[in-house]
Amino acid sequence: MRKTRFFGIPLLLPYLKRYRSEIVGMILFSAFGSVIDIAVPLFQRYALNRFVTQNDLGTMPAFIAIYFTAIVIAAGFNYVSCIWGMKVEVGMDRDLRNAAFSHLQTLSFSYFNQNSVGYIHSRVMSDTSRIGALVSWTLLDSVWQFGYIVGAVVVMFVMNARLALVVTSVLPIVVLLYALFEKKLVSVNREIREQNARITGDFNEGIMGARTIKSLVLEEKLSAGFAWETETMRRKSIAGARLRGMFAVTMSFASSLALALVLWKGGLIAKEQIGTFSMFMSYAQGLMEPIRWVVDAISDLITARVNIERLMKLMNTQSDVTDSAAVTERYGDCFEPRRQNWESIHGDIVFEDVSFRYPDGEENVLEHFNLDVPFGTNLAIVGETGAGKSTLANLICRFYEPTSGRLLIDGRDARERSQNWLRSSIACVLQTPHLFSGSIRENLLYGNEEATEEEIREALEMVSATELIRRLPQGLETDVGEGGDLLSTGEKQLISFARAILAKPRILILDEATASVDTVTEKKIQSAMERMIQGRTSIVIAHRLSTVRDADMILVVQDGKIVEQGKHDALMAKRGMYYRLYTRQYEDEATTAALR
Ligand SMILES: Nc1ncnc2c1ncn2[C@@H]1O[C@H](COP(=O)(O)OP(=O)(O)OP(=O)(O)O)[C@@H](O)[C@H]1O
Ligand SMILES: [Mg+2]
Repeated sequence: MRKTRFFGIPLLLPYLKRYRSEIVGMILFSAFGSVIDIAVPLFQRYALNRFVTQNDLGTMPAFIAIYFTAIVIAAGFNYVSCIWGMKVEVGMDRDLRNAAFSHLQTLSFSYFNQNSVGYIHSRVMSDTSRIGALVSWTLLDSVWQFGYIVGAVVVMFVMNARLALVVTSVLPIVVLLYALFEKKLVSVNREIREQNARITGDFNEGIMGARTIKSLVLEEKLSAGFAWETETMRRKSIAGARLRGMFAVTMSFASSLALALVLWKGGLIAKEQIGTFSMFMSYAQGLMEPIRWVVDAISDLITARVNIERLMKLMNTQSDVTDSAAVTERYGDCFEPRRQNWESIHGDIVFEDVSFRYPDGEENVLEHFNLDVPFGTNLAIVGETGAGKSTLANLICRFYEPTSGRLLIDGRDARERSQNWLRSSIACVLQTPHLFSGSIRENLLYGNEEATEEEIREALEMVSATELIRRLPQGLETDVGEGGDLLSTGEKQLISFARAILAKPRILILDEATASVDTVTEKKIQSAMERMIQGRTSIVIAHRLSTVRDADMILVVQDGKIVEQGKHDALMAKRGMYYRLYTRQYEDEATTAALR
């Protein structure tokens, strides 16, 4: 990855802008806060010199009043800058997450094929929170602490340059020591985090793969592996704790050393200046903690660069399928569609000399593919696994764009109109159906928000799901769980089928839509399909050829090319590929039936 300047912070500017006043306020208040922190030893000096050495108590009431006011103001500054810091942190968290989530919605399929869920998840969750903390707390602390260091050093030099020199002489050593420790700590912490991720991963596998583990009798082997991982975690954690312990000891040693130096060279201060002496002691001790903070902040900044760069890489990823500026201007985007400008869609589809290769694919899946599907056609696509059937469906939905050639919708290049315009008129039922967590009713309404109770009932009846709903304890209100996983695959397919019916699409695509339902249900759905495809363009991809016998046109594809095309009877008469596929399947089914 290209290295960015200034730890990648400039990349965040567009997001920081909104919080300009909070950030400026936070910095100013932290600076004021550190000024008061610096002043405290000066108060001490005054009190000792005046009240003890000179035994003059005349200014005592004024002193108390000023001192008290300063402390109250410091507390106030601290409080306000903390509030602002928190506002910036949670605000940035929210903004970055929203931006990342919205951006993910605009990305095309290929991004999700190329990046794992885990990877995307940690970009959106942990990178954002790390960045939020960086621009709030790290910034606030470093201003405060750095201000303290600079101020304290200046005051010491003004008061007594020689003694100041003695005290500050230990600082470079301390900074160096901290930097070394910090570097080691960062790497140990990273190892601990990675080990933790490994343990979480193992846990996930143990839970998700529980059934496979049991069936392969892998319990003992996996448990031993897991025990080894947790043991490694234990060792690494102890090493980390030891290091932190040493760090703490070194820190207190360093501050004792600075203190010792003040005591040793205290003679540089005149006897009556007991206050100055005590002030030096306070600074000598008080300097160590801020130095640690600043070193900490710098190392945070260095390590957070990776988080910033990774998140920004996600934000800057362009979708492979984008609408041109002119198209967006007229038709709107997925967040603000301009429906008033949308032409109503008819439903003619034409592939014109289309060649296509997947973005990460090695060879063309389609080559010079031509196909005309006029409105109302009931097209069936059959062919062997990997022939390119789903690819055709993906192109029609514009999940991918042709590498060359054109896809025409109603006679015009699909790219002349927005993706949303097209997709709002297409319904797809896929082999791997997906439902959202929520009730069945909610899932059905995703197809069409305005569907009436009557329409829902009809749609469910059409796909023979009425019985299924009746069996469920809460009927339509039953929660389907994450991804619909509380239902079987076949049941999910039925619900997504009903959802497609409710959407009343002009173009209907069924990609192995009935692959996971039993043959009885399939028969019922088929009769529903016959009614459903009336007045629409439909594309049915099927492995079970008996389901596509009645199609207006059957395409037999192989290696991305149409090898045969026609109606069932004609294709059977041809005795070619379709005939072979059909008879082979028919024999299989007949054999199975005979064996029953
Ligand atoms: N996301 C992808 N990236 C790269 N190559 C892909 C991708 N999806 C599919 N392919 C390749 O494209 C070819 C056609 O795949 P496609 O999914 O269209 O087949 P299919 O006819 O639908 O097969 P099946 O009957 O198994 O569903 C295959 O060789 C496959 O390896
Ligand atoms: Mg497929």
